[in-house]
Amino acid sequence: MDEQEFLNEYTAKRKQTDSVKWDNLKAMFGTDDLLPLWVADMDFKAPKAVREALQKRIDYGVFGYSLTPDDYYDHYFKWQKERYGIELHRDWLRFGTGVVNSLNTLVKLLTKKGDSVMILQPVYYPFKRVVDNNERKLVVSDLKNEAGKYSLDFDDIKQKIEQEHVKLMIFCSPHNPVGRVWSEEELTELLELCRKKQVLVIVDEIHHDLLVGKRPFVSALSIKDGHYRDNLIVVDAPSKTFNLASLMNSHVIIPNPQMRMRYDRLVSRLESPAGSMLGKIAGSAAYRAGATWLENVLTIVRKNYHYVKTELEKAFPKVQIAPLEGTYLMWIDLSQVVSPAELETFIKQKAHLAVDFGDWFGEAGKGHIRLNLATTPENIVKATDQLISALREKQS
Ligand SMILES: Cc1ncc(COP(=O)(O)O)c(C=O)c1O
Repeated sequence: MDEQEFLNEYTAKRKQTDSVKWDNLKAMFGTDDLLPLWVADMDFKAPKAVREALQKRIDYGVFGYSLTPDDYYDHYFKWQKERYGIELHRDWLRFGTGVVNSLNTLVKLLTKKGDSVMILQPVYYPFKRVVDNNERKLVVSDLKNEAGKYSLDFDDIKQKIEQEHVKLMIFCSPHNPVGRVWSEEELTELLELCRKKQVLVIVDEIHHDLLVGKRPFVSALSIKDGHYRDNLIVVDAPSKTFNLASLMNSHVIIPNPQMRMRYDRLVSRLESPAGSMLGKIAGSAAYRAGATWLENVLTIVRKNYHYVKTELEKAFPKVQIAPLEGTYLMWIDLSQVVSPAELETFIKQKAHLAVDFGDWFGEAGKGHIRLNLATTPENIVKATDQLISALREKQS
């Protein structure tokens, strides 16, 4: 299927479908009159095989209490093994209704009130929320930003771990919003440092299939043949990859048997549900038959990224765009052309766009916007025109 055929078959009109991205603009941004490129879901229908599998279950018509289908493990494990060389075991895997919900549970599991938890900003904003809401102490190390190229600031991380007696790190790999796919060397250095300092690590790998650049994804589970497994928990889901967020199915991977036992006890005390049956049916079908669909989506994301980058840099060379290695989220520093204090008003009232604003991701994100590229090239061209016209008008 070429790009146009894919777009014809899979583009979804989302307005007035109870979509958070399209139908919650007034509540979120104060006006409806915006082209939405914010929250991370796609304007594409899920793979055909997913819809067929769901349809089959719907036709059967029974939605009683359900087990995880055996083939879920087969298809998910095969996907992870063949694409990334990750070896998973059935007894390591637990299911949840969403990654953020699991992060919340894991913070309770791995730390006590008042313990220090480190996050590396700018980062997906629920990381901060789960630390604050559980009354843990937030410790922030900012990523190093060299003209839009981000890296880990190991000296700062080490110093703050020691100073603040950090117990837990929540790490995003690949990283939302800066688009980094961390290299094996970077991951090894971070995991080694955390192991030495007895800092447990939660690695959020939800974006790991969304590989846009050339760098391959390496799971924290596979580093040095699993050397760090006992010190970490990985969270992941098919929802970001295949656009299934509302089906409430995610993974918690706990290789360490003691941690697993404690996790099971806590989850049972919290009465947390273990995912949803429709979510598992969808996920299983996606891992079985969604590879070509994903490749089509990534082709569109790459093209959209290239278009925005080329046009924006041509018109405004001072705009800094982070190289997009992973995720479908583009991270743009507008601070040299719009003052951070007026950015939000400018984007809403002049460019008529709904985006994620950089400061949602922490102080280090100030002056930036995050654009969701998982939409049609037509929307991307329109959004780019709106942004460039607004910037031109501002400068004239
Ligand atoms: C890093 C990261 N983790 C988790 C999520 C959301 O996961 P869920 O919808 O399963 O809670 C997102 C959504 O954008 C994300 O970017």
